[in-house]
Amino acid sequence: MAAIVTDNLVKRYAEVTAVAGVSLEIKEGEVFGLLGPNGAGKTTTISMLSTLVKPTSGTALVAGRDINKDPLAVRRNIGIVFQEPSVDDLLTARENLYLHSMLYGMPRREIPGRIEEMLRLVNLSERGDSLVRTYSGGMRRRLEIARGLIHGPRILFLDEPTLGLDPASRKAVWEHIRGLKDLHNTTIILTTHYMEEADSLADRIGIINKGRVIELGTPEELKKKVGHDLVFLRGAIDEAAVRALPFVNTAERDADCWKIGIVDSGINLQELLNAAGRIEEVEVRRVTLDDVFLKFAGQQISDDEDEKADGFFERVAAQKAVRR
Ligand SMILES: Nc1ncnc2c1ncn2[C@@H]1O[C@H](COP(=O)(O)OP(=O)(O)OP(=O)(O)O)[C@@H](O)[C@H]1O
Ligand SMILES: [Mg+2]
Repeated sequence: MAAIVTDNLVKRYAEVTAVAGVSLEIKEGEVFGLLGPNGAGKTTTISMLSTLVKPTSGTALVAGRDINKDPLAVRRNIGIVFQEPSVDDLLTARENLYLHSMLYGMPRREIPGRIEEMLRLVNLSERGDSLVRTYSGGMRRRLEIARGLIHGPRILFLDEPTLGLDPASRKAVWEHIRGLKDLHNTTIILTTHYMEEADSLADRIGIINKGRVIELGTPEELKKKVGHDLVFLRGAIDEAAVRALPFVNTAERDADCWKIGIVDSGINLQELLNAAGRIEEVEVRRVTLDDVFLKFAGQQISDDEDEKADGFFERVAAQKAVRR
C-alpha cells in the first residue's frame, strides 16, 4: 500500500501560488527527499499533508486517510519536525517531551522510558531538565527531532531536520532515520538543502520548483540525467581531437585549463586522455546531486551560473596568481 498519494494538490495565497498541482505516490517504508530552492513549496506541501494547512484544491491520502475529510485520523499516524522552532521555551526538554507524549495519547507507562531514549538519541540527557530557553540553536533542533519521533509515528515529516546541526549531530540523526526505516518501516518525507544528506538517505527524490515537481527519481537516476562527469585537464590539449570524441558533451577552456563534460568517465576517461595529447594535470569529478539540483532547479538561484558554481576557473586563477 502507498503511504501517501497526493492528487493535484494546490495551495494559493493572495499573492502567490505556493503549490501548483502536486501528484505524488510515496511507498510505505520509503525515504522520500523533497528538494527545491527557497520558496519552491516544500514546507507548504508538507503542511498540507500533515493537515496544518488546507489545500485550495486537490487532496491526498496519508496512511489511507483523506487529509480533507479525516484530518484527525491522519494526525494520529504522523510525526512532524518543523522547519520553524515549535518547542515550548518555558518548559524543560523533559516537560516538552512529556506534554507531547500525552497529546499523542501514548500509554503512560511507556512515556518515561521513551523520553529517556529520545534524549539519549539526540544527546540531551544531561540538559533534559534545563529550560529550553537556555538552549543553543542546535540543541533546540535536536529536541525538536526527539519530539517528532517520540510517539513512533508510521509516517514522519522532517522539514530541514538537520539545519544548523554540527556534523556529529547530523550524522546521529541520519543514523536514526536509517534505523527507523530499517527496523520500523517508517515512511519518511524529508526536505533538505544539503544534497549530501538527500543522496545518502533518500530512496527517491522529487525536485520541486515554483510549486511543481519537475524531476522525480532515485539519486542515481537523477545523476544520469545530468549526462556527464567533469574532467579537468591542464596542458597543451588537442582541442579538435577532444571535441571529435563521441562521448564528449562539452569542452571549455581558460588559458591552458580545460573543463570537459564526458559521458561515463569510468569507461571513457582513458580514451579521452589518449586523444588529448600532452597533459600535465588531471582531475575527475563524478556527477553529484549538487549538479542535478543546479541543472534542474538552479536557474532561479544562480541565473545559469552552474558552470562557474564549482569554482574551477576561480581556483585556476588563484593558482596562477600564487605562481606569479
Ligand atoms: N502563510 C502564507 N501566506 C502567504 N504566502 C505564503 C504562506 N506560506 C508560504 N507562502 C509562500 O508560498 C511560497 C512557498 O513557500 P514554502 O514555505 O512552501 O517554500 P519552501 O520550499 O519550504 O522554501 P524554503 O526552502 O525557504 O523553506 C513562498 O513564495 C511563500 O512566500
Ligand atoms: Mg520550507
